[in-house]
Amino acid sequence: MQRPAALAVLFLCSLSTPVAAQDLTWRKDIQPLIKEQCGGCHGASAPSYEEWNLDRKNFEGRMIGPRMDNYADFMRHVVWPATGSVERRLDDGKNAEGKPGNMHGFLGTTDADRARNLATLKNWLGEGAWNLNRWEARGSVPAITKEQLDRIKARY
Ligand code: HEC
Repeated sequence: MQRPAALAVLFLCSLSTPVAAQDLTWRKDIQPLIKEQCGGCHGASAPSYEEWNLDRKNFEGRMIGPRMDNYADFMRHVVWPATGSVERRLDDGKNAEGKPGNMHGFLGTTDADRARNLATLKNWLGEGAWNLNRWEARGSVPAITKEQLDRIKARY
């Protein structure tokens, strides 16, 4: 009799435990989200960031962004060379007490969807890793620091 009771307790606990941030992975949680919400313009047929940058105006005019559908290309918009661009474009504006980034709207169709997907991305990147800084300082925004970069976990 004891074992089924213990199993029932375990089962109930598992129901109420939220997905721990460290359990989120690119393969399981993030790639499907990016594919669904961003793939139409940042998918496998989109040019690499460098190619895109060479002819940016042309691609922008055709609503084509840089490719971001795989871990390596995505992380280049977090770490380098497009440091923090994922964070700046997807931010809800609360960080900077300003306007949301211009890709925030693509995170979902309702406010709740967008907030949930943003939280998933933030949790996956790591605690304190959602930084809007660029590689180099611009205006009043300082360059990103090694301490900030160290917080990035982003499990594959
Ligand atoms: C309807 C097409 C479309 C969708 C959907 C879309 N984007 Fe974009 N995205 C663009 C275009 C076009 C640009 C380039 C113009 C600009 O910079 O705003 C861009 C630019 C960006 C940039 C800046 C790249 C850089 O470093 O300069 C990031 C980051 C980005 N998008 C992320 C995303 C993410 C993440 C999603 C999904 C949540 C998404 N986008 C959904 C079209 C789209």
